[in-house]
Amino acid sequence: MSSPSATAPGVRQGDFRFRCIACAQLSDQASQDFRCAQCGDLLEIIYPSWEQERPDAAQLKAAWRDRKLSSSPADQSGVWRFRDLLPRIASEQDAVTLREGNTPLYELPRCARTTGIPRLFGKHQGMNPTGSFKDAGMTVAATFARRAGFRWVACASTGNTSASMAAYAARGGLRSLVLVPEGKISWSKLSQALDYGAVTCQLRTDFDGCLRLLQQLVLRAPVYQLNSINPFRLEGQKTLALELLEQLDWNAPDHIIVPGGNLGNSSAIGKALVEMRDLGLISKLPRLSVIQAEGANALVRTLREAAGKRLVSVAAETRATAIRIGNPASWKKAAHVLEATSGACEQVSEMEIAQAKAEIGAEGIGCEPASAVTLAGLKKLIQQGFVKQDETVVLVLTGNLLKDPDFTIDFHRGDMFKGGAGVSGEVDALRHPPVVLDATLDAVMRTLEQSEKS
Ligand code: F0G
Repeated sequence: MSSPSATAPGVRQGDFRFRCIACAQLSDQASQDFRCAQCGDLLEIIYPSWEQERPDAAQLKAAWRDRKLSSSPADQSGVWRFRDLLPRIASEQDAVTLREGNTPLYELPRCARTTGIPRLFGKHQGMNPTGSFKDAGMTVAATFARRAGFRWVACASTGNTSASMAAYAARGGLRSLVLVPEGKISWSKLSQALDYGAVTCQLRTDFDGCLRLLQQLVLRAPVYQLNSINPFRLEGQKTLALELLEQLDWNAPDHIIVPGGNLGNSSAIGKALVEMRDLGLISKLPRLSVIQAEGANALVRTLREAAGKRLVSVAAETRATAIRIGNPASWKKAAHVLEATSGACEQVSEMEIAQAKAEIGAEGIGCEPASAVTLAGLKKLIQQGFVKQDETVVLVLTGNLLKDPDFTIDFHRGDMFKGGAGVSGEVDALRHPPVVLDATLDAVMRTLEQSEKS
């Protein structure tokens, strides 16, 4: 393994600095664990130049629109198209890009009817090149890893980060090391990391154990960490909100609802919303709400039991394996953005997740289980009167349906909830189990007739 040649990770590019989220210490460089040298808390990226000369909102919007017509790779990326609000790269050619972003904002008419929210949308980040929202952050962080002269990048993951990191490392000519909890991530995600050429370690621990180990590793070896502790990741993930608002003609929705795992994505989206408000790109701040699985509800408990002052970690368990995280690294950032946007934090059961996932599937869209917590959570927020009928709501669908086929097949076959106990007629009606038949016209005709009646 060779040492990084030129610079430490994230050397200042001239237009941004690192700021500690706890003690506000500013720095031009970050250490390999991306923690504050003074107090050890997480870093965020800020842009002091915006205070000297605020970017002009109308000019930014026009530039972003014009770039859609360009054929340059950076302009075709739904992340780098917004590069004016990202850490500066010397040249557009430096961007390690798979033309990420550019994800659709879908109407959800069926879910709109059942929830009674006519203006309900799904921002489908599962339509990214590797099938999850991670690509938006990875293009930026992989670009800075390469700039900093690293040969190896590494992450701990519940599956999507590793798939995305492996792809961007391969594109950028970097080697990648993946640490995943053995037996606790979907094979689809693992297969992506293998195909993209990662060195994949299945560790006998959970995600939290993998992340702990990674943080020790980066202090010992010249390896660049690509978890969402890395603030470049969050800068890239910010563009989800920019693209969303552009798709809504810069009319801010009332609510944006995201799943919460390690809490990087909610932090990134919240940061973007506040920046957009401060730069005059939007006039109203949407409420950002975070939904967790009941079995992995560290943020819910942190807010309810410790008023957001200290992390209440949990031993995580959920079939939505992407968010099976008990000790979320970015809990403090997420708590800040919930406060800044007056958002809510809720938890949903395994049954509610499965039902919501099938409902999103029935829209002809589909998503992975972790993404479906948004719809399940929305139903709760409506019941609580937090979301009102005449409001516009955007669900952030973080991962593609094909990411976790076992979950989908178990649900539709009826294998998910043992003995069917507690399964309502409503949930049962969403199941579409496959049938095995003799290869006769009669058998298929009978199935067609029966289905017509049901
Ligand atoms: N949805 C999906 C599909 C995810 O893969 C993740 C996180 C989340 C939601 C939660 O986002 O962590 O930013 O709060 N997946 C990470 C991974 C942890 O390793 O792939 P978060």
